[in-house]
Amino acid sequence: EAFDVMVVGSCMTDLVSQAPRLPKAGETIHGHKFFIGFGGKGANQCIQAARLGVKTAMVCKVGKDFFGDNYIQNFKDNGVHTDFVGQTSDAATGAASIIVNKAGENAIVIVAGANMLLGSEELQKALPAISHAKVLVCQLEISLQTSLQALRMAQENNVKTIFNPAPAIPDLDPDFYRVSDVFCCNESEAELLTGSSVANVEEAHRASQELLKRGCGSVIITLGPQGCVVLKAQESTPKHVPTTAVTTVDTTGAGDSFIGALAFYMAHCPIMPLEEMAHRANQVAAVSVQAIGTQTSYPFKKDLPAELF
Ligand code: RIB
Ligand code: NA
Repeated sequence: EAFDVMVVGSCMTDLVSQAPRLPKAGETIHGHKFFIGFGGKGANQCIQAARLGVKTAMVCKVGKDFFGDNYIQNFKDNGVHTDFVGQTSDAATGAASIIVNKAGENAIVIVAGANMLLGSEELQKALPAISHAKVLVCQLEISLQTSLQALRMAQENNVKTIFNPAPAIPDLDPDFYRVSDVFCCNESEAELLTGSSVANVEEAHRASQELLKRGCGSVIITLGPQGCVVLKAQESTPKHVPTTAVTTVDTTGAGDSFIGALAFYMAHCPIMPLEEMAHRANQVAAVSVQAIGTQTSYPFKKDLPAELF
């Protein structure tokens, strides 16, 4: 069985509070809505790709608990292949405490739990599938070694890789750049990785050039309402890909919607120019910011204009 998109990454139960603003240290404030949702950057990206209509498989680990059982059902409900979803009694399913303010901005604390126990044993089991996939996607909510090993496995088998260095760490192992066909991060991650400010399109252009020098195939820096900047290896000038203005309710997981869509296009339309894929992924992510939650807000193929396919 061959998959279009495989994700080696995280699953988190999102515990979300909507409040007028984010609280300060030591402060208690009233929020107005609480809900529990399916999240985690890896799973979010996988679910978005699946909803656009490609064959997906998730390689991850959840706890042998209520949240883990529910998560496996969620993958099945979304048509994601679950043979590589492991369950452990040694740690709890990952959890994310999320606060969303009136502007739709968020602050998140994740406790990765079972996600950190995904390791080379599980990767070995998934290797036959990984080696036949079209696109492999990784992030940084599982152990660094596991992410890097998965990306190397893909690269050795000529499988296209998308790496999303999120949440970002300042001294990322330089090998991560070399194993990334597309290195895709947001402005704050780009800032942390380059050590320079990335607050506008101009600065994002410079950051993309710096990141490309480190050895990846192409760089995409997402800029929220400003769209994104795309820099391809063969070209020295970055391109700004703007997006359409929408009314933002909750931006949580918008970057994951973008990456899931990008993975979909790379698998489904491999010869499409990267800027065009990014342009379309912008439109998909723009739908996600108009509703609350992460996966709850991700569009299906049927919800989107036909020209995106
Ligand atoms: O990128 C959004 C995701 O980050 C949330 O779903 C949360 O689980 C955290 O992992
Ligand atoms: Na959303």
